[in-house]
Order: sequence, then structure tokens, then C-alpha cells
Amino acid sequence: MPFLVLWPFTLICKLVEDSMPFPKRSPDVVVNCAALSVPRACEADPAATMSINVPSTLLEWLSAFKEANTLLIHLSTDQVYEGVKSFYKEDDETIPVNVYGKSKVAAEQFISKNWSNFAILRSSIIFGPQTISPVPKSLPIQWIDGVLSRGDKAEFFHDEFRCPVYVKDVVTIIQALTSRWISDGERMQLLLNVGGPDRVSRAQMAETVAHIRGYSTSLIKLVSASSVDRGVRSPADISMDITRLVQTLRISPTPFKEGVRLTLEAEGSG
Ligand SMILES: NC(=O)c1ccc[n+]([C@@H]2O[C@H](COP(=O)([O-])OP(=O)(O)OC[C@H]3O[C@@H](n4cnc5c(N)ncnc54)[C@H](OP(=O)(O)O)[C@@H]3O)[C@@H](O)[C@H]2O)c1
Ligand SMILES: *[C@@H]1O[C@H](CO)[C@@H](O)[C@H](O)[C@H]1NC(C)=O
Repeated sequence: MPFLVLWPFTLICKLVEDSMPFPKRSPDVVVNCAALSVPRACEADPAATMSINVPSTLLEWLSAFKEANTLLIHLSTDQVYEGVKSFYKEDDETIPVNVYGKSKVAAEQFISKNWSNFAILRSSIIFGPQTISPVPKSLPIQWIDGVLSRGDKAEFFHDEFRCPVYVKDVVTIIQALTSRWISDGERMQLLLNVGGPDRVSRAQMAETVAHIRGYSTSLIKLVSASSVDRGVRSPADISMDITRLVQTLRISPTPFKEGVRLTLEAEGSG
């Protein structure tokens, strides 16, 4: 039975806090989702952002096991890219424009230098149904649906591009990496763009929701991202080329429209 840790995992955090005996065996896999992930919050506290987002404590803990052989699956971001072209590849230079992106680049470098068995997933916006125990933060598709369902006019950027990825594809990717490690036992040093197949603006995301729900697209006001001060720089076009992901794991991520349809179906009629 593989021993998998999803970090932050309440039980493990509790063990750390209480200095209870650690598990004797090192985990087979750790999926590191812990982060300060709100760019504006990161901008306000760079020191805290660096210390939380660079997993030095986690790797220190893992190194302490006699056979430190854990596969570290680490969630990074598309915001490592500068955002001045379309369809970034993994080998393109990373030029983050904000503290969040900088901390994620530092984390990637830390892991690549200090750990020999890892998969770094540069994820785009993750969307999908609400979790069984609802998360406190607002989810992108549900937020758009909420605004448009009230008949409110809202502004959406027409010039900021992402490749949103359906949450179940992220899970499939993590499962595929885990199975590969458990069955082959071969260490990996993987860096993967994790995005959906479609490059869309916020306005196109809203239009997709409107089409599926039957809302009027006249509620969607197109504005330029440069017209709004969000207290943090946001890269304009960080769409990603996902060829490496598709070829390495032989999976084909869900098209955006299909993912939105599945998300809204799970939410009911709103
Ligand atoms: N969601 C997306 O669209 C998206 C896109 C690209 C990349 N990512 C990356 O994917 C990962 C997960 O994202 P998310 O949206 O789930 O983020 P999130 O909602 O902000 O959750 C982050 C988690 O990290 C925990 N955490 C914060 N500080 C911690 C600390 N010092 N020690 C241990 N745990 C700590 C938080 O715990 P508490 O709740 O207890 O504070 C929370 O459970 C992050 O690395 C993020 O950068 C997410
Ligand atoms: C590797 O780990 C050491 C010790 O924690 C740290 O000082 C160093 O900066 C790390 N390397 C990178 C590239 O982050």
C-alpha cells in the first residue's frame, strides 16, 4: 500500500505541531499544495511568501528519513512566465512579474537543486466543481455564474490569456505520476506545463458560461486589464504549450467548454 501525503494534510500538520513520533517510513509520494497563492497577498508580504512557497522545511523533513526516496509532486504556476507571448514552453525563460511568481520560481530552483525525485507542475487556473467540504475562496466559474445569473453587468478582461485546466485532469496527472513511480521505481526530474487545450481570455471564459447557461452576453463588458489597478502586476498572456504533458503522460486535458459544462452541471441550476 503506497504511503501518500497530501500537503498540507491536517493529520501530518498536527503531528508536526505536537512533535508526535514521525512515521518510521518515508512517504512514497508527497503532493505539495501548500502556498500563499493570492498574488496581492504575496505582494504585501514577500518574506512570508518566500518562506511558505519555497518548501525548504518539507524537504528538510523528507531528507531526515534513512531512505529519502520520496517522489515530490509540487504545484507551481503559469505565473513563472512573463506573459508577453503565447503558448510558453517549459524551456522558455522564467521572468515572473510579481512576488507570487518569483517565489514559485525560487521553489522550482530549490527543488531541482536539492531533491532528485520530483515532478513540478506549472498549473494554469484550476477550475471545476466545489469540493465536498467547500473551500473558502471563490471559484472562478462559480463566481462568473453568480454574477451573470443575477443579471448584473460585469467587466471582463479581453486581453489577459490563460489555459485553464479542469481539476479532474490535475488529479489524473497526479495519479499517473504516482503510479509511474510506484510501478517503475525510477526517479524522475520532470517539469510540466499543466494547462487545458484552450487559450482563453477572462471575457471568453464569461461568454462560455453565458452560452451554456443561456445568459445574455450583453452583460459582459469588455475591458483592458491595463485599465484596472489590482495592486499587483499580472502577466498578460501566459498561455502554455502542453505538448510535453500530453506526450509524457499520454493524457489529453478536457476542452474548456466541456470542463465548464461539467462544472455547472455539478452546481445545479444556480
Ligand atoms: N487554484 C489555482 O487556480 C492554482 C493555479 C496555479 C497554481 N496553483 C498552485 O496550486 C497549489 C494549491 O492551490 P490552491 O488554490 O489550493 O491554494 P489555496 O486555496 O491558497 O490553498 C493553499 C493551502 O496552503 C496552506 N498553507 C498556507 N500556508 C501554509 C503553511 N505555512 N504551512 C502549511 N500549509 C500552509 C493553506 O492552509 P490553510 O487553509 O490552513 O491556511 C491552504 O490549505 C498552490 O501551490 C498554488 O500556488 C493553484
Ligand atoms: C538548496 O538547499 C540549501 C540548504 O537549504 C539552500 O541554501 C540553497 O539555496 C538551495 N538551493 C537552491 C538553488 O535553492
